Amino acid sequence: MRGLDVWERSGLLPTSPYPLNVLVERAEGVFIYGGGKKYLDLISGIAVNIIGHRHPRVVEAIKKQVDRYDHVMVYGDFILDVQMEYAKLLTSLLPPSLNTVFFTNSGSEAIDATIKLSRRFTGKKKVIAFKNAYHGSTFGAWTLASHSDIVKGMEPLLSEVYHAEFNDIESVERLMDGDVASVIVEPVQGEAGVVPAKPEFLMQLRRLCDEQGVLLVFDEVQTGFGRSGSLFAFEKYEVVPDVLVLAKALGGGFPLGAFISSRKIMSVLMDPPFGHITTYGGHPVSCAAGLATLKVLIDEDIISERIPQLETVMKNTLFRALSNIPDVKISIEGIMGAIHLPDASLTDRVIRKVIEKHNIIVDWFLFAETGIRIYPPAIIEDDQLEYALLTIANVIKEEIAR
Ligand SMILES: Cc1ncc(COP(=O)(O)O)c(C=O)c1O
Repeated sequence: MRGLDVWERSGLLPTSPYPLNVLVERAEGVFIYGGGKKYLDLISGIAVNIIGHRHPRVVEAIKKQVDRYDHVMVYGDFILDVQMEYAKLLTSLLPPSLNTVFFTNSGSEAIDATIKLSRRFTGKKKVIAFKNAYHGSTFGAWTLASHSDIVKGMEPLLSEVYHAEFNDIESVERLMDGDVASVIVEPVQGEAGVVPAKPEFLMQLRRLCDEQGVLLVFDEVQTGFGRSGSLFAFEKYEVVPDVLVLAKALGGGFPLGAFISSRKIMSVLMDPPFGHITTYGGHPVSCAAGLATLKVLIDEDIISERIPQLETVMKNTLFRALSNIPDVKISIEGIMGAIHLPDASLTDRVIRKVIEKHNIIVDWFLFAETGIRIYPPAIIEDDQLEYALLTIANVIKEEIAR
């Protein structure tokens, strides 16, 4: 339990038993500065800072917004131009059926809201999620995680939530009994260690949900905003969900989530009214930051050019550097990467050494104890990324040889 004393002295609680304790004084672009060190950030605040830290266009947008107004009224009463502009831009980039946005504070809140939405819209009770999924920390989202250790002592959980096997359509079919409101799925399971859905699995899910009158919800909190290689992962899979959930990069470094669906589906939250309400959801400063981020992603060809190029760099560098090491698995989707080593203690040693000795920030996954998370910002240069990946590969070799 290293480093917990710092937290205790400050009166804060880290729920991680082994906090990294990297001191942050400043962050800029792909770097985080603190304690006399300059760290290269390969996790982007866990899939948040898609265009790095303090991008000038984001900083400018925030400043402009703060100079005009910050919080004025809960979401959904006053007309806030920045929210409207953001919703308009988002929906212009989505298929016509995803035309109505509700902004929340976080991904967890948006996921919980989709449970309420799907039950009210369908009049059915059950929600199907997948083993090894992570959808957040509020009660509904927490129940969707299948891991008994994280929910221990917190039962009873939300009722009528069932877990199917990821990438196994028959396990979903077995749960379809006419009382299922929604199926909630990550197109690429993040916390399981970057595990992509098979294309046919998502297509079969779409077909099954259509046949059974079930809402298909895609949690793109991690995969969205270019992280998994296209603006939204569903585009790559060519499967349109009924409800799309976004957060993380959506807020451009500020707290923001959203669930997006058709006007017809979303309208059930107005009947009876106030089906979902939030004080801070859609905060104008978060919307300004997110809107500026999305414009940068589009204007600077980051989605169309940089991310595919960085994905190639990741694949080429890691497969070449680690190809002759047995039992190492690499999973890369866009700039969402995982290196899985043969055992968890090796993974721990590698992660700590990469951070402490080489000042490169990598991280663990929640549900993949042998995985090293590599989620670089999309503004990283090819040579910076290549250098960092080769350094990680060398540390892996050193620690295996120890
Ligand atoms: C796939 C996924 N869904 C939902 C969430 C919850 O988002 P938030 O932490 O903003 O509540 C997370 C957070 O890590 C996530 O990775």
